[in-house]
Amino acid sequence: MSMAVNLPLQTERLIIRDIVASDLEAVHSYACESEVVRFMPWRPNSLEDTKNFIDRAIALQKDEPRHHFELAVILKSKQQLIGACGLHLSNADNREGLIGYCYNQNFWGQGYATEAARALLSLGFEQLGLHRIIATCDPANIGSARVMEKAGMRREGHFRENIWIKGKWRDTLLYAILESEQK
Ligand SMILES: CC(C)(COP(=O)(O)OP(=O)(O)OC[C@H]1O[C@@H](n2cnc3c(N)ncnc32)[C@H](O)[C@@H]1OP(=O)(O)O)[C@@H](O)C(=O)NCCC(=O)NCCS
Repeated sequence: MSMAVNLPLQTERLIIRDIVASDLEAVHSYACESEVVRFMPWRPNSLEDTKNFIDRAIALQKDEPRHHFELAVILKSKQQLIGACGLHLSNADNREGLIGYCYNQNFWGQGYATEAARALLSLGFEQLGLHRIIATCDPANIGSARVMEKAGMRREGHFRENIWIKGKWRDTLLYAILESEQK
């Protein structure tokens, strides 16, 4: 499954490219917000946490073959980083990937997460030859569930209290799409 991958991805309004060290400030500006990370397993980032995230993302770019694509999402019209999204090979033997995303609150509600999620699915199916791509979210994270649905993913399960996050047991919705369903 080691295929040449063509980055950046381009959509109508977005450029989705590898994270670089100089993204630190733009990523930190939202990763430190408690509202943004409300449903994430992590607490609002310290600057050091964000630097570690960026360093890890950059280190993983060197893997051969790559199993992790943590990517910066740039709004073309402003040449501004508005968030990050990721595609990870969750089960390479079975050609399964996992996607995730997190955006700056100033840019929510304009369809950017959906546009980027569709591009990640194309990366997974068309470039990486994946068979199945999954994503998960807290059922209370209505926006995230909606992004998955709009990207064509189907709800496969609702796991009850399967993760301990920020002092509480949380439920998880599992969404997935198969290569045969990707348009
Ligand atoms: C969840 C998140 C990615 C959505 O990003 P976004 O760019 O606002 O999403 P989109 O604009 O593509 O919206 C997709 C759909 O969800 C809906 N939606 C988005 N946020 C919503 C919310 N808080 N409540 C209800 N619906 C919401 C939109 O209205 C849209 O549906 P529609 O086209 O039928 O109106 C963004 O809010 C975010 O980064 N949250 C913080 C990080 C996070 O929780 N990531 C996911 C972890 S699983």
